Amino acid sequence: MVAAEFDPFAKTGGLADVLASLPKALARRGLDVKVAIPKYGSVNLTGVTLRPSVARFDLPFDGRDEPVRLDAVTLDGFEVLLVDNKPYFSAREAIYGYPDDGHRFTFFARAALEGARVLNWRPDVIHCHDWHTGLIPNWLRADDHAPDFADTASVFTIHNLEYQGHFDAGVLEAAGLAHQGFIPHPARADLNDILVFMARGILFADKVNTVSPRYAREILTPDFGHHLDPLLRDREADLQGILNGIDTDTANPATDPHLASHFTLETLERRALNKAALQEAVGLPVRPDVPLLGMVTRLAEHKGMDLLLASLPHILDRDAQLVVLGLGEPRYEEPLREAALARPDQVATAIRFDDPLASRIYAGSDIFLMPSRHEPCGLGQLIAMRYGSVPVVRATGGLADTVDDVDPANDTGVGFVFHRYDPIDFFGAVARALEVYRFPNAWQGVIRRGMARDSSWDVPAAAYELLYADALTARRNQPSPALATVS
Ligand code: GLC
Repeated sequence: MVAAEFDPFAKTGGLADVLASLPKALARRGLDVKVAIPKYGSVNLTGVTLRPSVARFDLPFDGRDEPVRLDAVTLDGFEVLLVDNKPYFSAREAIYGYPDDGHRFTFFARAALEGARVLNWRPDVIHCHDWHTGLIPNWLRADDHAPDFADTASVFTIHNLEYQGHFDAGVLEAAGLAHQGFIPHPARADLNDILVFMARGILFADKVNTVSPRYAREILTPDFGHHLDPLLRDREADLQGILNGIDTDTANPATDPHLASHFTLETLERRALNKAALQEAVGLPVRPDVPLLGMVTRLAEHKGMDLLLASLPHILDRDAQLVVLGLGEPRYEEPLREAALARPDQVATAIRFDDPLASRIYAGSDIFLMPSRHEPCGLGQLIAMRYGSVPVVRATGGLADTVDDVDPANDTGVGFVFHRYDPIDFFGAVARALEVYRFPNAWQGVIRRGMARDSSWDVPAAAYELLYADALTARRNQPSPALATVS
């Protein structure tokens, strides 16, 4: 597997969680997995045993030779390779956001391939995640670029189509793909001379998948396709959705080291201590009776921040508390901070990245908000349910696939679902949740059904294993470059 993030070494979002937990589940099934990630300066290796310099080599890149060093760490049944070149990675702190990110991730992906060759390790499948690795399927399909990987298949997983990696001719050249040229965009002439990393992954991978069945269908439409829907429709026969799991060993309210009180379905009454501890920690009045709404999110438009802000006054008209943890766009940070200043007895915000506090919110809130405009899978709602917080979600992507709407008359459902991206509809779902909250028996039923849900990787890991086998079959049946289909 090749990816830009890996929890806990380098994380900005759910991508890192998937990379940490899927390989572990695959290893349990007997697969031999290595994960390559860049060794950013911020990678924190305290407590792990590093095998430094398992390989060193020079990589011809952009007209010069660049040194590469691989360090290795063995984790639960699989190995992580940390790919370093000082100027591109360990001499810089951040994961993303540099003007030369196109060169950086091209270099990383190329170095990961070359590293496997140097280590004399020929994987059956290279599983590429998100745009940062989108050129690998391209190289594997261009014979002269990866002759040592003639039998290696590629799988490309889209975690979020919104982030695509758009770069110019300089990056195309550095990637060694200048002779292939830009691929004319089927729908947008203005993208004709832009190298879209994600489009390359979609076009050239033997199999493509995304992280929920619903999102796999949504991205075939212009509303969700972010201009790549024509390419995705071309590859519809090779595209599927596999729902993410969560690491049920670490995301576990019975053992999570950050909780004030551990609990299970059998000891649910102990959950209340987490609510009190959370209220106290974030400075809200400690009141067991008041419904506490929680949110752990990137403060970004597609996470539904507009819906939250527009309905906030109505939510706060009720006797309710809200805690928001997240980092992101200043246009959302500001109003949240203001709300916390104006209503300190009802609103608390933590504008930062804070995993321990995230755990405490999952375990201590009553209701968990995810009003996303789009959500490829979403892991928050899965963790929230496992920790006994009832999700309010919009019916999109993985949220639609994992949260069934509560029907109090029939004692079914695990959360509150709304459909239109509209503040009134969102508020309607919150109001329904607050209504059911007043009936402790019904509410306990919702919590229990959510906690009992299986969100482990067992089922999805088996689906990935099948996908890898299909990718290998596809590779064997079509060994020549797929270039004919693109120009
Ligand atoms: C991205 C998506 C999120 C998904 C995660 C892991 O962060 O936005 O929906 O759960 O990737 O696949």
